[in-house]
Amino acid sequence: MNELAGKRLLLGITGGIAAYKSIELVRLLRKSAAEVQVVLTGAASQFVTPMTLQAVSGRPVRQDLFDPAHEAAMGHIELARWADLVLVAPASAGFMARLANGFADNLLATLCLATTAPIILAPAMNQQMWANPATRHNVALLEQRGVELWGPASGDQACGEIGPGRMLEPEALLGQLQGRFAPGPLSGVRVLLTAGPTREPLDPVRFIGNRSSGKMGFALATAFAGAGAAVELVAGPVSLDTPPGVERIDVETACEMEQAVMSRVTGCDIFVGCAAVADYRPDAVAAQKIKKHNDRMELRLVRNPDILAGVAARTDAPFTVGFAAETQAAEDHAEKKRIAKRIDMIAANLVGAREGGFERDENALTLLWEGGREALPMMDKRRLAEQLVSVVTEHYLAARHPAS
Ligand code: PMT
Repeated sequence: MNELAGKRLLLGITGGIAAYKSIELVRLLRKSAAEVQVVLTGAASQFVTPMTLQAVSGRPVRQDLFDPAHEAAMGHIELARWADLVLVAPASAGFMARLANGFADNLLATLCLATTAPIILAPAMNQQMWANPATRHNVALLEQRGVELWGPASGDQACGEIGPGRMLEPEALLGQLQGRFAPGPLSGVRVLLTAGPTREPLDPVRFIGNRSSGKMGFALATAFAGAGAAVELVAGPVSLDTPPGVERIDVETACEMEQAVMSRVTGCDIFVGCAAVADYRPDAVAAQKIKKHNDRMELRLVRNPDILAGVAARTDAPFTVGFAAETQAAEDHAEKKRIAKRIDMIAANLVGAREGGFERDENALTLLWEGGREALPMMDKRRLAEQLVSVVTEHYLAARHPAS
């Protein structure tokens, strides 16, 4: 199977000696029947010529943001929409800084801002530049926003130094691209996810909330999309970027979250409740800011709907995964929740001042299902999400195609 046939790849080339390798990359991509549109930065054209790249790609190379031939029809936006994927190889330290800061001062940087396609960078630079705190900061910022980095490799550098900073070889980049477009194990599967906290208003300025940052749920959305699923993410109020390829629905309260979930759950194959949903909301919301007239004040709360239990109770229930956030005896409480809510799997995590769970970049989970368990140790939430998705995938596929 040729995964790249007909795929529209926008190859950005920035200024660096590794740019010469991109000519071979274009040739390999064309041989794999991909459509390749090359965009050169001004610095890149000091290393490779548009003429060569036009010859190997079979398309005119684009270089200028202010190109009268194309910009009359908003050519940069057209290109941003055209691409199935944007690969910048080599990606220089300067270009990464530009991207991290959201500059739109050349065609490639502008395209990257305007596209909804996944963006992948193959960095190439001197090893000291790669190690510089400014570059480390830019890398962290870009990865946080869902930009992927492939490489750099380590070894001899053009400047005579040895260390990390070499662009991956064209054959390696081709292999990664083929893997990226290979149908994932969840291709054709619809996943609905909740993430983040809910806010239950008391008056126009105050609310009852919790410490969920949305990081765990957004990492899961990224991992499900990476496994090929079509992902809808119902998000409480968080300040995170939408993962590439994921459809996001923003809500604020538990009732809004329930409504958003229930209106989308029909036909969905997997539901994951990662949101920290408020169990109670104020019975009444004051129309004006509540004044402090008394020494004591009592709040009357009413139960919120249980979204997870509601999804699991449907006759057309998808494969349903819940989370349990506990401050003690996480596994015991989680197992009780799994049984009470009649869900297929639950992920237990300890939360609290010392244990984490909420807000941090790392987490640990214990997965429980009927007759089984698996512990996933403390690690970065992105890696943890990938491992959780792979366990869920295995169980979902087994439930869909039970062994006869
Ligand atoms: O967002 P982060 O900062 O990355 O933190 C991640 C996390 C700690 C929030 C996450 O890992 C987690 O544990 N999410 C579930 C938090 C929670 O509300 O747990 P719970 O034990 O109170 O709820 C059990 C399950 O029922 C959850 O799947 C929850 O989404 C669901 N629920 C709860 C109440 C309600 N009214 N409706 C629900 O659907």
